[in-house]
Amino acid sequence: MTSSLTIRRPDDWHLHLRDGAMMNAVLPETARHFGRAIIMPNLVPPVVTSDDARAYQARILAALPDGMDFEPLMTLYLTENTDPEDVAAAYADGLIHAVKLYPAGATTNSASGVKNFDNVRNVLEKMAEIGLPLCFHGEVTTDEVDIFDREQVFLETVLDPLRQSMPELKVTLEHITTSHGIDYVAGASGDIAGTITTHHLMINRNHILVGGIKPHYYCLPVAKRREHMEALRAAATSGNPRFFLGTDSAPHTDDTKENACGCAGCFTATNTMSLLAHVFEEMGALDKLEGFSSLFGPARYGLAPNDATITLVKEAAAVTFPEKINTPVGPVTVFNPGHPVHWRVA
Ligand code: DOR
Ligand code: ZN
Repeated sequence: MTSSLTIRRPDDWHLHLRDGAMMNAVLPETARHFGRAIIMPNLVPPVVTSDDARAYQARILAALPDGMDFEPLMTLYLTENTDPEDVAAAYADGLIHAVKLYPAGATTNSASGVKNFDNVRNVLEKMAEIGLPLCFHGEVTTDEVDIFDREQVFLETVLDPLRQSMPELKVTLEHITTSHGIDYVAGASGDIAGTITTHHLMINRNHILVGGIKPHYYCLPVAKRREHMEALRAAATSGNPRFFLGTDSAPHTDDTKENACGCAGCFTATNTMSLLAHVFEEMGALDKLEGFSSLFGPARYGLAPNDATITLVKEAAAVTFPEKINTPVGPVTVFNPGHPVHWRVA
């Protein structure tokens, strides 16, 4: 039995830090274990321009507790008014590492997202030209499409046509939740990768709905059938460098989750590495954890892996995590997989 595993310090390629008091409270949860993270721009109002991103980056760095070493990798929120030259300048300056595309209405704070893809073609063409990755929230938002089919329909009606018409564009399909998404990323030609969250490796739609509704398991894209979770687990542990970790850790206070209209998002920053070790051990693939969480993401983004390492230790007794992170705006529940976990970060 492996009881200890040392890997390069991981990075999180999809993280929601929010702003203000919430950010101050959740930032240490990520910075404790992760060296870098791609910071999602869906603030209110969103991070749209290079000036917005520079100011947000400064607020994050100012909120970082003394002695913690963490690099926020900034992104811009793509709107139909985004200026391609501003994007290109921010990339050339090393300020941003990706642009995020939310189809309008897809999820939390996505109202300023893209309705008509023709209106962002100039930005996407510029990104293809300069090699700047596009992080895609991969769901259609039309009422007619069932929420459980929205990723699959997106692949067929949005992503594939876009990539056919712009094969040079580097795309990251974020938080994949279906076998269709896995098959698409694994099989597509060209420059494509996909991120997988911690929680989608551990829950399927039964966890959300059987025995009473569990708001802390609700996120978007919503978890699908068990067979899709199995496909995600197989891909994450396969050693295929196209698949790497993006936690999509998304803090919401309990009052907004435990609500008649509850917010989407699972908060996994605190215990992600323990949970991943659990999953990878279950899959007989602990040797693949480092690639997934620490090597394939940097390679994709043209960065070196972190020099530092972390050590995961398997304890005989189950490890305990805080049930909630207390913030000045209210408690945030930490994702609980509902079964014992024995791995902790030393
Ligand atoms: O569950 C989610 N929460 N999915 C997203 O795409 C956004 C995120 C958030 O910002 O809360
Ligand atoms: Zn997200």
